[in-house]
Amino acid sequence: SDIEKGNFRHFMLKEIFEQPATADLWISRYLPDDLPVEAPVALPFDNSFFDPIEEIQILACGTSRHAAMVGAYLLEQFAGIPTTVFFASEFRYAAPPLAPNTLTIGVTQSGETADTLSALAMEHERRSACNDIAFASRQLGVTNMVESSLARQVSNILDIGAGLEVGVAATKTFLGQLLTFYGLAIMFAARRKARSANEILDLCNQLRSLPKQLRNLIETHNELTEKLSHQFSETKDVIFLGRGINYPIALEAALKLKEISYIHAEGYPAGEMKHGPIALLDKKVAVVSIATKGIVFEKALSNAQEAKARDACLIGIGPKVPETDIFDHLLPIPQVSEWISPLLTIIPMQLLSYHIAAHRGLDVDQPRNLAKSVTVE
Ligand code: G6P
Repeated sequence: SDIEKGNFRHFMLKEIFEQPATADLWISRYLPDDLPVEAPVALPFDNSFFDPIEEIQILACGTSRHAAMVGAYLLEQFAGIPTTVFFASEFRYAAPPLAPNTLTIGVTQSGETADTLSALAMEHERRSACNDIAFASRQLGVTNMVESSLARQVSNILDIGAGLEVGVAATKTFLGQLLTFYGLAIMFAARRKARSANEILDLCNQLRSLPKQLRNLIETHNELTEKLSHQFSETKDVIFLGRGINYPIALEAALKLKEISYIHAEGYPAGEMKHGPIALLDKKVAVVSIATKGIVFEKALSNAQEAKARDACLIGIGPKVPETDIFDHLLPIPQVSEWISPLLTIIPMQLLSYHIAAHRGLDVDQPRNLAKSVTVE
């Protein structure tokens, strides 16, 4: 209803603006500053939970799968644990051979997505049938709904605590899922001593400063993307590019735009553009490129340059520095460590999709053919 939307035109915009509060709550619950550096995150299991695990597999759909992909990057690159993300709907019928000491994480905002629930159930069954302790079923659920089917099915649950999300296109629950993976990666890194105490404390402190950064970013980018959205009235195709930890953000941006604006969009790892998608480029195609400081900054810029050479309209998401002058439009992001950059780059992506769809007069909160939770396989 209008009352619940407050001054916002749509729930989606209201929920985008609620993200600093989502982060605040998550930090006060999971990242209190009085914990020891060996166990700096307040996760609701005994710390021995983390010790036997040698490998992680994550099952999810849609936006939750994109959060899982950022999670896998963190678990592998920050905490050093081999991690694979699966489409739950594919895993169900083509699971990999059983590996020992594996944690299976199911990620579902609603806790009701049939593909994810049945993939988890199948994995539990095939592991329970083994009489070998190394192959025992170890499962963890990440959800925004602690009273869901997922919570009844899986005993270890992490509540992302984002509060009710009404818009079909997930925003604040995505941020909550991302934060949950930061918490898990930090705990694994700490328990396994994959990172020094300083590196761990540094990441914790960066997360603690996130709510304030999000507040500023949302205000600024709400205005910038609203103006920019007017240029997309005739746009039919948008390509989102990202690399490394921001590649899943490019995928998520493309999904958001498709879901609510019905514009054809694709997300690509920027280095792959030359192997096909570059053939699509001309002046009618918009390219949105994430180029944040880090190991792939120069590479991401040169990939963007290739798109510009094909006359595509080039929008950049990155720091305001001389190198990012190549963009026709820059959506500026403060210079933060690459580890936490996805928590910031997602903001202009959500707002750009929102404003493009709202400018077209579409029903942003209830897009055609989509449902908030899909309870059929
Ligand atoms: C639906 C929604 C998507 C969502 C997906 C997974 O398809 O339209 O926005 O990402 O379900 O939902 P879940 O509740 O499992 O995270």
